[in-house]
Formats: sequence, structure tokens, C-alpha cells
Amino acid sequence: MTSHPTTAPAMAHGVSHSSDSLPAHIAVIMDGNGRWAKARGLPRIEGHRRGLEALRGLVRAADQRGIRFLTVYSFSSENWRRPAEEVSELLGLLRYFIRQDVADLSARNVRIRIIGRRNDLPDDIAVLLREAETTTASNTGLTLIIAFNYGARDELLRATQALASQVAEGRLAVADMSEQHICDALDTSGLPDPDLLIRTSGEVRLSNFMMWQLAYTELVFLPVAWPDFDAAALDGALVEFSHRQRRFGGLTEPSAEQARGQV
Ligand code: FPP
Repeated sequence: MTSHPTTAPAMAHGVSHSSDSLPAHIAVIMDGNGRWAKARGLPRIEGHRRGLEALRGLVRAADQRGIRFLTVYSFSSENWRRPAEEVSELLGLLRYFIRQDVADLSARNVRIRIIGRRNDLPDDIAVLLREAETTTASNTGLTLIIAFNYGARDELLRATQALASQVAEGRLAVADMSEQHICDALDTSGLPDPDLLIRTSGEVRLSNFMMWQLAYTELVFLPVAWPDFDAAALDGALVEFSHRQRRFGGLTEPSAEQARGQV
């Protein structure tokens, strides 16, 4: 069983707590690319291209503000249902992003992690994703977590299969199973849970995104389409977050010591 990462400010059961009102981990559902393009009479791929620009801006802005972990939903397990042309363009955009940006991100001390199902991805993409992770593995700055071919139910299914195998092989007793075992079997193993979820485009749902990890996350839904998301929109969400009182099921916000499980 892996222990909590030392990079997060302070954590209990995978919940991160920053020392001030800044979230340690932000998760983002980058929604509205298609509508942004349609409103301008442009092809949908143009919305995704502009969405990539918005993502680059977000990584920079989040890093500058001291965010430690940033998870972005870039392709869901359900996105394969889109027309083949759009799927192919989204895969192409991921290839382009990894080839163009990883060296620069690494120079800025950004670490990359990928979450999502790997075994049915095109071979070249699986290689690119693995390389992005290994190239940046020793970086100590912002961790950028790219959710690609990701679905929370699929992640939970794979985690359940892994734990069931451990039980079947006699390596884990059912009675000993804890929440931590599930955390450790998820793609996000070793990462703190998001403190803040931002979804753009006005839709108010989770769309199969990090459903285990978002249990105590503050949710912020913004009307802006993803390609128009900028540093000012991020700051607005951070202000909203700073006004939220987090109690994690208790009556008061936990102290840093409580959050670390020391009292
Ligand atoms: C949702 O908007 C967005 C996506 C399915 C793709 C997100 C991809 C990017 C932002 C591109 C850059 C990312 C990487 C890592 C290459 P939508 O198309 O569902 O918008 P709609 O609801 O308005 O149609």
C-alpha cells in the first residue's frame, strides 16, 4: 500500500488541505469547445484548437498562483461515440500537444501524469503518454494530470478488478480492505483529491469524471465556454473557493493537524 505523497501540503484520506484558502488541487472539465466554434460559424475542431490554447494558459496561470496539482478532462471513455473525424482530430491534438509542449513544460519543472484506460489506445499515443510521464517524472513543480480515455466508472471497474485479483491470489483479505486500498488501486493513486472542480460552458453535471475523488470537492460551474477561459476566470473561481467553508462531514473546518490525521 502506498502512503500519501509528501508533495501535497497536508492530507487525510486523500483530501488535500492547503495552508491558506488556495486549493492544492484543481480539476477542470473543459466543456463548450463545440458550442464556441458553432457560435462563430467555425468547424468544431477549431473550438478544440482554441481549447488547447486555453489549457496552455491555465497551466501557466495555475503554476504562477502556486497550485500544486491540476487535472484536466481532455477525452472521456464516452468520447469515442463522436463522429470518427472528430475523434481522429482530438487524438491528433493530443499528439501535437505532447510533441510540442512536453519539453517546455518539463523545463518549467511541470510533472505530467496520465489517468485513464491505456490498453485500447493507438500504440503511438500509448508510447507518447508513457514518454511524457517518464521525461517529467523527477520534476517537482506543478503536477499536470491529463485525463485521457478516462471515465470514473471505468477507473472504478479496473480498480475493483485489481483488488479482486489480490483477494483471489490470497494477497488481500476481504476483511482488511479499506478506503485506502481503493484509493491506491485508482489511476490517481498517490495524488490528493481535488479541492476545487471547475466546469465551464454552463452544464451542471460531473459527466463520469473522478466520482470517487470528488466526494468532498467544492464545485464551481461557470457559464464561459472553455476556449474563452482565461486567468481572470481562474481567479474568479479561486475567489469563490476562498468563500466556501469546508467541513468534510464535521462541524468546523479541520485544523492542519487534524487534516494530517495527527490529532
Ligand atoms: C468538451 O467540449 C471538450 C472535449 C471533449 C475535448 C477537450 C479537449 C481540449 C480542450 C483540447 C486540448 C487538450 C489536450 C490535452 C490535447 P465539447 O466538444 O463537448 O463542447 P460542446 O459541448 O460545446 O459540443
